[in-house]
Amino acid sequence: MTVASSTLALAAQLSDLRARGCLTVTVDGHTIALFDYGGKVYAVDNRCPHMGFPLDRGSVRDGILTCHWHHARFDLASGGALDLWADDVRAFPVEVRGDEIWVDVAPHADPKAHLRRRLRDGLERNLSLVIAKSVIGLAQADEGAVETFRAGLEFGARYRRAGWGPGLTILTCMMNLLPHLAPEDRPRALYHGLSAVARDTDGMPPRFIVQPLPGISEPRFFELKRWFRRFIEVRDAEGAERCIVSAVRTGATPQQLADMLFAAATDHRYIDAGHPLDFTNKAMEALDIVGWTPENAELVLTSVVGGYADADRMEESNAWRNPIDLVEILERTFRQLEGLQHEGAKTRRIDEQGRQRLVAVLLGDDPQASVDALLSECREGTSGVDLAGVVAYAAALRIARFHTSNEFGDWDTALHTFTFANAVHQGLRRTHSRELLRGVFDAAMSIYLDRFLNVPAARIPVPNGKVHLSLGDLPALLDRQQQVDAAGEAVAQLLYQGTPPREVIVMLGKLLLREDRDFHTIQCVEAAVRQHEFLVGTPEAMHVLIAAARYLAAHAPTMRAQGQTFNIAQRLARGERLFEA
Ligand code: FES
Repeated sequence: MTVASSTLALAAQLSDLRARGCLTVTVDGHTIALFDYGGKVYAVDNRCPHMGFPLDRGSVRDGILTCHWHHARFDLASGGALDLWADDVRAFPVEVRGDEIWVDVAPHADPKAHLRRRLRDGLERNLSLVIAKSVIGLAQADEGAVETFRAGLEFGARYRRAGWGPGLTILTCMMNLLPHLAPEDRPRALYHGLSAVARDTDGMPPRFIVQPLPGISEPRFFELKRWFRRFIEVRDAEGAERCIVSAVRTGATPQQLADMLFAAATDHRYIDAGHPLDFTNKAMEALDIVGWTPENAELVLTSVVGGYADADRMEESNAWRNPIDLVEILERTFRQLEGLQHEGAKTRRIDEQGRQRLVAVLLGDDPQASVDALLSECREGTSGVDLAGVVAYAAALRIARFHTSNEFGDWDTALHTFTFANAVHQGLRRTHSRELLRGVFDAAMSIYLDRFLNVPAARIPVPNGKVHLSLGDLPALLDRQQQVDAAGEAVAQLLYQGTPPREVIVMLGKLLLREDRDFHTIQCVEAAVRQHEFLVGTPEAMHVLIAAARYLAAHAPTMRAQGQTFNIAQRLARGERLFEA
């Protein structure tokens, strides 16, 4: 091969290579394997791109170089991998001058573009190691987290016919948690989120976005919103998606679009245990991150619609109908709400006493009293956002006081209510939607139904001056199973001792990321951190972190296999050897 380059470097003598068939040389910091094959000289990076095994210990047959660890195959001439999980190995151009072998060690033309392509490979083929290596490489190349997140969002929203699911929710949760994590944990968080998207889309058919109504140009938001709700009512996802796309194309604002979706998501009671509404909130948070361009809004918002159309409705649930007909109570209440002026827009703040009173009622055993208390606050002009915040806090208390004598699966019951209540709270901060206000009442009914999870109630820890803990005590605690009460106690004592809450959150994030991805635990920690932001400076703020620590402890330790994959990628990035000689 003739190379015209000033970056050529003398690598070896041809006669030496011919004598041995393969030589390993170091040129300008690169360890290169030279092969004499079929009368030609080839040079490739000696480090297998999969997990670093020396390729000079591989074998060449029919122009294919095979690594002898996991048997990845490469085209010897170009370095291109024939097993995509392994990545292409770098092949260096070679020039032979008499008995001298010269190789061109010019740097890669565009390493970021290569890493982005590899991230795409990892997403397409559900390859966690490839995703981990790409995320680490992109972070080292100063690619912003938003761009990496965007790649996962676009992929997940397009390549899963069922639309928005746990994978994209985890990815968005992780992105929301990013500022609260230690800098070294941020790539790991993105890796978890992106891997969850890859797993969710693996083997799934793609989704095709519908076109807007033909020739539509004038804003027809109210008509489209009305149709959208009607189509969801009859479980027609396609017609509903077309309404969204048409609304986007005719200039509907993010607030209007939120209003449209949240209305349909709350037209029936607590659909699918709150998942569709939570997913909708997360989809909008994802758009906040990447920007509400028409293209993004169409792609992302249409992805949640299938979840509305297919959802179970609590009108059909025995628990919501018997022995007390909660649906009837709610419908009666909603009729009264309609008579009030523009509820969502009210701005009176609830005071501390009012909060405590309301929480006590919400945690009681009288559903009528719960809705009456909320309705009364609405009549007083209390803001929907504040009411939603109080309800979300009460839902977190169900977890903070969850007794471990319950069945293990009941953690999920309490979790669903909390994440739903958190989503309603976040949604009302986004749009003063009269319809979404119904979600506050739905969450209150779910808190009522969850009351048995606090019988007996676990004790909220009180200050214990006799113990002194450090943050470093938490990891060992969560190395053992079922340290639920101890974890809640430890977090509480740390906070009572004066440990800054942000440091406790950093540690909770670290502990979350070392476990295998669990959708609900990630949701719980993320919602608790969000709620903590609103409660910071109040005694209640501690309780949501206790809830997060208890839920995390209940679901730890896991095998931590996903973390091991990330650790391998990190070691490879540092140039460490993973194999024994
Ligand atoms: S195939 Fe080469 S290290 Fe795994």
